[in-house]
Amino acid sequence: MTEAILLVGGRGTRLRPLTVRTPKPMVPAAGVPFLAHQLARARAAGVDHVILATSYLAEVFEPYFGDGSALGLSLEYVTERDPLGTGGALRNVAARLRSGPDEPVLVFNGDILTGLDIRALVATHTASGADVSLHLTRVPDPRAFGLVPTDREGRVTAFLEKPQTPEEIVTDQINAGAYVFRRSVIDAIPAGRPVSVERETFPGLLAAGAHLQGMVDATYWLDLGTPQAFVRGSADLVLGRAPSPAVPGRRGERLVLPTATVAPDAKLSGGTVVGEGAEIGPGARVTGTAVLAGAVVEQGAQITDSLIGAGARVGARTVLSGVVVGDGATVGPDNELREGVRVWCDAVLPAGAVRFSSDA
Ligand code: GTP
Repeated sequence: MTEAILLVGGRGTRLRPLTVRTPKPMVPAAGVPFLAHQLARARAAGVDHVILATSYLAEVFEPYFGDGSALGLSLEYVTERDPLGTGGALRNVAARLRSGPDEPVLVFNGDILTGLDIRALVATHTASGADVSLHLTRVPDPRAFGLVPTDREGRVTAFLEKPQTPEEIVTDQINAGAYVFRRSVIDAIPAGRPVSVERETFPGLLAAGAHLQGMVDATYWLDLGTPQAFVRGSADLVLGRAPSPAVPGRRGERLVLPTATVAPDAKLSGGTVVGEGAEIGPGARVTGTAVLAGAVVEQGAQITDSLIGAGARVGARTVLSGVVVGDGATVGPDNELREGVRVWCDAVLPAGAVRFSSDA
């Protein structure tokens, strides 16, 4: 097994939902674009050819990753004119695959952070002789997900839509967004139209009697679909909870990139990352937060579980918790913003403009 397809496209996902200008796969998580972690993990598992199937402009990725040689990979980019869905995107790159018809091809969703043992998934696939093997993860509350029950041998028995009633929750296993396909299965996906693997390809294969194998494990798994999850994922990479060979430094409470400046009495913890050229002022306390390149956190600010966009400024004594501050935005001194607030790119919030708590 040597090649993989990374799905990094889709409808309306280009700039949302992070309130930052960079497309999500390129937003730094633990100091490098999120995609770098996935590519490095694939490389570490023996993959040497990766096709990025995207509906973004390839210009976004190419200046950073180029032909992939710096990562030890051969990297190709294929851009859909209109998004083709997950299955359509796979079919659209089929001609670039180098594997033989029966050989395994890895497929990864671009917005999942996971500790998946990629080699184990391939080994499961090969041992079971499956047509497609899926990484499955267990979630405490599966209501927001399509369910993937398996039999005692791990064979997938159904793909169920999001459960509406308690009786419909027949398993806590969900599709974790990493697969091994027999190459000929990708070739057989209809070309030239949108196809969803979950809603069309997989149920169709099951109905036709194909063998779909599930591999359930308890490794780290996080869907980075929301800004809050993205912040969590970045912190977990810094802390070492989410494994990645691409984290540029030692794992620990904080990761400060070389060109950043941090005042000696500032306190950084909980997997906080301080990006290139960013500044953390005296007495600031920053926990579980991603401070992107060139952002400034002034003295005495207290920031928890937040994303501070590139070039943004957080004023003195301001308190932020669970907040996204967009690129180039300014939150003036003495504000207090809490869970779920998003400050749009370049917005300016004057000093003392917002408090969360009442004055009572
Ligand atoms: P469909 O199954 O095709 O309807 O997509 P979905 O919306 O169920 O997929 P989801 O949003 O779970 O996305 C899974 C991964 O596939 C993510 O990494 C997306 O970026 C990627 N993706 C989704 N749609 C497309 C697409 O049209 N083209 C490409 N290249 N990637 C996509």
